[in-house]
Amino acid sequence: MGSVDLVDPAGPAGDVDWAGLRAAARDAVDKAYAPYSGFRVGAAAFADDGRLLTGANVENAAYGVTLCAECSLVSALVMSGGGRLAAFSCVNSLGETIMPCGRCRQLLWEHGGPGLLVDTPQGVQSMTEVLPQAFGPGDLDHVREANQ
Ligand code: THU
Repeated sequence: MGSVDLVDPAGPAGDVDWAGLRAAARDAVDKAYAPYSGFRVGAAAFADDGRLLTGANVENAAYGVTLCAECSLVSALVMSGGGRLAAFSCVNSLGETIMPCGRCRQLLWEHGGPGLLVDTPQGVQSMTEVLPQAFGPGDLDHVREANQ
């Protein structure tokens, strides 16, 4: 359900086209498959090379198997060459900015880390604010290195 397009990079000096990102997330809502909850979510992100990635939620009759919009977005990132997420936004079907769920904050941390900027109802925040004291790859490295 995820997709990728080549667009201008986020811009000079780290400027992010948040309006463009929100518009892409709103477009992505229309792709959602949410027959069970009726709650459609669209997500959009810029990768660090300027790629625009989008995703939408994909539900399942076995409810717990549902994929959040962030899942398809992250899959689109990986399948289009990888890299890091630089800026992220997700919206509901009213076009309102919503917070990623807890599980998806972990997904975003993995592929964006502390430098990822997240659009929130309270303004743009860094991932360290969105997921404080995150568990991440460094925790695995720490133990692996201690055991060498
Ligand atoms: N959902 C997302 O796609 N992303 C989130 O971060 C929050 C929840 C979806 C999952 C489910 O299809 C619907 O919203 C209702 O929970």
